[in-house]
Amino acid sequence: MAASSSLANFSKRLQGKVALITGGASGIGESTARLFSRNGAKVVIADVQTDLGHSVSKEISSESGEKVSFIHCNVAKESDVENAVNNAVSLYGKLDVIYNNAGIRGNTSPNILAIESEDFKKVLDVNLYGAFLGAKHAARVMIPRKKGCILFTSSIASVTNGGLSQAYTASKHAVVGLTKNLAVELGKYGIRVNSISPAGVPTPGAAGVMGVEAKKVQEIFYSIANLKEAMLDGNDIAHAAMYLASDDAQYVSGTNLVVDGGFSLTNNLASVARK
Ligand SMILES: NC(=O)c1ccc[n+]([C@@H]2O[C@H](COP(=O)([O-])OP(=O)(O)OC[C@H]3O[C@@H](n4cnc5c(N)ncnc54)[C@H](O)[C@@H]3O)[C@@H](O)[C@H]2O)c1
Repeated sequence: MAASSSLANFSKRLQGKVALITGGASGIGESTARLFSRNGAKVVIADVQTDLGHSVSKEISSESGEKVSFIHCNVAKESDVENAVNNAVSLYGKLDVIYNNAGIRGNTSPNILAIESEDFKKVLDVNLYGAFLGAKHAARVMIPRKKGCILFTSSIASVTNGGLSQAYTASKHAVVGLTKNLAVELGKYGIRVNSISPAGVPTPGAAGVMGVEAKKVQEIFYSIANLKEAMLDGNDIAHAAMYLASDDAQYVSGTNLVVDGGFSLTNNLASVARK
């Protein structure tokens, strides 16, 4: 009995860690909250979707047996982010991991003439400024402890042209810049900073933008994928986040982990031209 319970603890890779996940009520954030919780983390979900956030937290908690809390937080508002970080610390005494994952697509037209300035600023406000605020307030509580892990969700739009809007693409490139600059600045405090760049993941957000069911989103992305015999979903991104958040990644900082099955390497126009 003792042996099997210590084995169970050993297999929980985030045992004892406290993680704040923005955009955790849906999609990639929700998958990550589930996996972190199953792996022993105390999770705080921060999101603008209050009802969904509460119900998802409750569901995850009853599934994993770990405490999962929800706090309403608009990541583009500094007082909300400050409050979310303070809330995690007052609930659990510390913050080990922040996953700055909340993001929006905004007007998805790749046509620069179709984008109003306000659309552009709105996307930057959530995807970049919101990520910056999360990192800033997490750093505030992590620096004195001389440890911590700051994660961001960027996108393959940071490494290849995804036919996405100027605002979205610029925001996701900027998140990688933020990751690298912060990894350098915060290294002396033992704080690791990394980003994750997923290819197309079937989430409510992606499905909404494409106007089809999530299953269809997955099929569409599979049809253009480089790696076959596996289908990307939110759980794959959650596993990447778990690795980066865990002590297994204790010397990994400043990376942009691209989770795309090699898709961003597959510009085959040269071979087409040769034919
Ligand atoms: N799904 C994909 O194909 C894909 C690919 C690459 C990157 N991403 C990125 O992954 C992240 C998660 O996206 P998703 O696909 O899971 O989308 P999603 O829409 O399913 O989930 C995003 C969550 O963020 C929340 N959110 C939005 N604005 C917020 C704000 N201002 N403050 C707090 N929470 C806010 C939403 O309420 C939602 O719960 C985003 O940053 C997105 O850009 C997604």
